[in-house]
Amino acid sequence: MRRLTSETRLHPADLILPMFVADGITEAREISSMPGVHQHTLDSLKSAVSEALEVGVRCVDLFGVPLDSDKDAEGSESWNPDGVLNVAVRALREEFGDDLLVMADTCLDEFTDHGHCGVVVDGVVDNDRTLELYQKMAVAQADAGAHLVSPSGMMDGQVLAIREALDDAGHQDVAIMAYSAKYASAFFGPFREAVGSSLRGDRRTYQQDPANYRESMLETQLDIDEGADFVMVKPALPYLDVLAGVAEMSPVPVAAYQVSGEYAMIEAAGRNGWIDRDAVMMESLTSIKRAGANQILTYFAVDAAKKLRQES
Ligand code: PBG
Repeated sequence: MRRLTSETRLHPADLILPMFVADGITEAREISSMPGVHQHTLDSLKSAVSEALEVGVRCVDLFGVPLDSDKDAEGSESWNPDGVLNVAVRALREEFGDDLLVMADTCLDEFTDHGHCGVVVDGVVDNDRTLELYQKMAVAQADAGAHLVSPSGMMDGQVLAIREALDDAGHQDVAIMAYSAKYASAFFGPFREAVGSSLRGDRRTYQQDPANYRESMLETQLDIDEGADFVMVKPALPYLDVLAGVAEMSPVPVAAYQVSGEYAMIEAAGRNGWIDRDAVMMESLTSIKRAGANQILTYFAVDAAKKLRQES
């Protein structure tokens, strides 16, 4: 009876797996604050993607981890066709064709030597100069074969700037998943290790104040008006009210990102025997879907998909 009347159902096809690919490593390296999640080599990336496809997870979101020596003030390695992220996008498209949907993170923070998501002028991130660099990065990712680009830097006007650049380069079919309501969150902590971030300080001049709800509705509306194909709320569980609000007003699909800190907390408590890890994993994903997410980016994607297959 519970199954028959269940109002919310997860499906592996809802899940998007974020993955890290690193330059200069010869074997996959586990991220210590995210046990079970790895920085990949090209080879280990491909085998991890095969495993995801086998259980029905058909979309991945790729983050690049360049060598420190390739970082500079503008993050120019991000639009280098031979840069680690673009090489990985190309490799996955060659290997999996259109069986896999490949999304690339369109943000400079992994590639800048100061770790900010944009160009820093006089100590602050310059919004409009950053947009030009996002355009170059998005076009390089689309040239490499990305089906989706995902601007995560929270610069004003980033969706329109990227849409125009993609269209001008003949990439009308490449879609944009916009990080629309992204908070300056301490839940991103483990991600800094995952991408070897050089950041000192914080992102409060461009990411949102956790105290604000209304602002998220405005940010989301702006992204929709600029042509976003998907909008996103991030983090997920601490912001379910925001997610529900965005789901209510958005005419385009709504994604939510269960971030590194959310993963780390569940994983850590599970490993200590303090909670039932699998049950909390499924409950958290169900709650995110119930609140209104159509797609969920989660480091649990493969394990959750396995569980869903066992249960069905
Ligand atoms: C920035 C970016 C971040 C995450 C995804 N994209 C970090 C930040 O904004 O500080 C966080 C993802 C996570 O914590 O899992 N390009």
